[in-house]
Amino acid sequence: MAAQELQDIARAIVAEGKGILAADESDGTIKKRFDSIGVDSSEETRRGYRDLLFTTEGVEEYISGVILFDETIRQKSADGTPFPQLLESKGIIPGIKVDKGAKPLALAEGETVTEGLDGLRDRLAEYRELGARFTKWRAVITIGKSIPSEYCIWTNAHALARYAALSQEAGLVPIVEPEVLMDGDHTIERSFEVTSRTLHAVFTELRDQRVQPEGILLKPNMILSGYESQEQVSDAEVAEETLRCFRRHVPAAVPGIVFLSGGQSDEQATARLSAMNALGPHPWQLSFSYGRALQAPALKAWGGKEENVEAAQQAYYHRAKMNSAARTGMYAPEMEREAVTA
Ligand code: 13P
Repeated sequence: MAAQELQDIARAIVAEGKGILAADESDGTIKKRFDSIGVDSSEETRRGYRDLLFTTEGVEEYISGVILFDETIRQKSADGTPFPQLLESKGIIPGIKVDKGAKPLALAEGETVTEGLDGLRDRLAEYRELGARFTKWRAVITIGKSIPSEYCIWTNAHALARYAALSQEAGLVPIVEPEVLMDGDHTIERSFEVTSRTLHAVFTELRDQRVQPEGILLKPNMILSGYESQEQVSDAEVAEETLRCFRRHVPAAVPGIVFLSGGQSDEQATARLSAMNALGPHPWQLSFSYGRALQAPALKAWGGKEENVEAAQQAYYHRAKMNSAARTGMYAPEMEREAVTA
């Protein structure tokens, strides 16, 4: 695979005003989401829900890529079109989650390592055949009393780099996701320190394993105080600290940083992305790859009922539009009201 082709895909994903919908919830995670709205999780309800999202008219103006799950990349829209081809016909690039989840790390209480490297080369070839052009692998780093350990950080960084190298070899742009969880009562300083250690390890491993920085995207957490912390900070501080950390660690050659939402409210995730872009220009595009922050209002509006499909699509379209505004730093909370009634 020519390096240029990987770069072109990565750049298209972070095209101006656009970002990623993460719709790659594993069976366990989507069941949790469906439980919250009282909907049974079956292959057909999952297909129907994803179909609703993917067929939302006009959303391609704001969404450049969608991350699918193994089951979803093999499913079809109501009219029989396979999901990857449906997305492609709208100019949206299909991607695929390829990790097999975070599992307990041996001899390291409370820490995990992400699995899924065995057989990955063959799986990547099949996903490319099915239409995927990019991939995602999520490592999970937990902040606690005496964790994360260097052992956990470096083991996950090593696996992320192995995955990224295999993806590039297969002609797929790897989204490298080292998620430092925002849960806990830690301060923003601690979030900065742990994210800094993590990014240092990740970019060291990526370089050692010959991954081209021009052909990846980084999907990180934002730097903020833990959700249970007494000291909550302003969006401006989140923006400044996040940028200060990434400037130290992320090569300018990386085309884009696409944030995860990680349990922030949908409007917070939008406002903080906007605050960061307002401080630009930056060496990389700053965009979104949100799951919950793009889907939560749509999921609620849908509630599993056919008659609510349109309302759910409107809710998703609205969040996509708000996050598109955040790409230029021009988002303002007043826009929430205007657009919903439009
Ligand atoms: P959230 O935005 O809900 O954190 O999900 C993004 C994602 O893909 C996590 O891997």
